[in-house]
Amino acid sequence: AFETTLLIAKPDAVQRGLVGEIVGRLERKGLQLAGMKLVHVPRKLAEQHYAEHAGKGFFDGLIAFFTSAPVVVMAVRGVGSIAVCRTLIGATNGRLAAPGTIRGDLGLSGGHNLIHGSDSPESAERELSLWFDDAELIDYTSSS
Ligand code: CMP
Repeated sequence: AFETTLLIAKPDAVQRGLVGEIVGRLERKGLQLAGMKLVHVPRKLAEQHYAEHAGKGFFDGLIAFFTSAPVVVMAVRGVGSIAVCRTLIGATNGRLAAPGTIRGDLGLSGGHNLIHGSDSPESAERELSLWFDDAELIDYTSSS
């Protein structure tokens, strides 16, 4: 199905200057940007985004990292985009992520892992509504 998913280039990606590399991979794959913005994330929004991890041992560090520098938030469209983006991103830990994936090619860290992607249609819907107003998501074709 044609889907929209929510991706976030995390503070480490922005600070390392890897946003273009990441967006380029998405574009070359054939996915389309429907929304994109730079955000220095307020703590409350970070906690809402990662609500499912509240109480876990890594939660406080995750929130501190996620609010430490700006992120680039993207709504990404295409056939099967939720699963396709998870495949492009790779496993959570950069040391375990397969070569060819964003995390596998660009990082060694488990927590500072460059990019977040919605993991299901339900989380994509929840996360898109958290980060974007409907009016911020733009429909267009590349052939106009
Ligand atoms: P993300 O896909 O954004 O979802 C939750 C994030 O928590 C994850 O990427 C990592 O950045 C971070 N994290 C840190 N430690 C862990 C861990 N042990 N297991 C899962 N996620 C972790």
